[in-house]
Amino acid sequence: MEKSSNVVWYPHKVSKKDREKIKNQKACLLWFTGLPSAGKSTVAQELEFELNKKGLHTYVLDGDNIRHGLNKNLGFTAEDRQENIRRIGEAGKLFVDAGIITLTAFISPYEKDRKTARELLEEGEFIEVFVKCSLETCIERDPKGLYKKAIAGEIPNFTGISDPYEEPSNPEIVLDTDELSVEESVEKIIDYFKDKEIIK
Ligand code: ADX
Repeated sequence: MEKSSNVVWYPHKVSKKDREKIKNQKACLLWFTGLPSAGKSTVAQELEFELNKKGLHTYVLDGDNIRHGLNKNLGFTAEDRQENIRRIGEAGKLFVDAGIITLTAFISPYEKDRKTARELLEEGEFIEVFVKCSLETCIERDPKGLYKKAIAGEIPNFTGISDPYEEPSNPEIVLDTDELSVEESVEKIIDYFKDKEIIK
């Protein structure tokens, strides 16, 4: 429900194009989605490292970190996940408006919520990256020991075990992390960026 009324949009004098121009890049929102332990954060961090080395302006919004601050009042019900993703979509849009190559690493299990985020951005700006990994491999990796707890019934609504994950139907990029190394995944995204002239 709209709570704010009598609020009027104030136009910026400096545009997104102006901000992109001085950074010599095109801003975008690279949206990683996938099961816990699929490799979203790992690939996002490595990719940012490589882009940063190239002198590009980047930022990673990561589920576990954002849930320590901005979204610390949210849990893991479908409703809270929806609000989590809604805020990240809006925050991502602000980063893109600032001219930044923005990476988000959230499970974002619901197609509808990802679509809502996509619709906030302009054509071509929202790039959905499906970090595809079999549940068996994710359970094997389990770096935080959360699958173990979830299987033991200690974490309710755990994605992949007791909560759904809806695979993207039409992602721009698929990273099969059962097969690809982190370096290969990073390379695949950099190739996509070059192809779309997001970076030179
Ligand atoms: S999302 O579903 O709302 O997109 P988000 O990516 O922000 O989730 O947070 C996922 C992280 O929260 C996981 O990496 C994991 O460390 C932690 N977590 C804690 N409880 C759960 C749960 N029930 N389901 C999934 N992840 C959980």
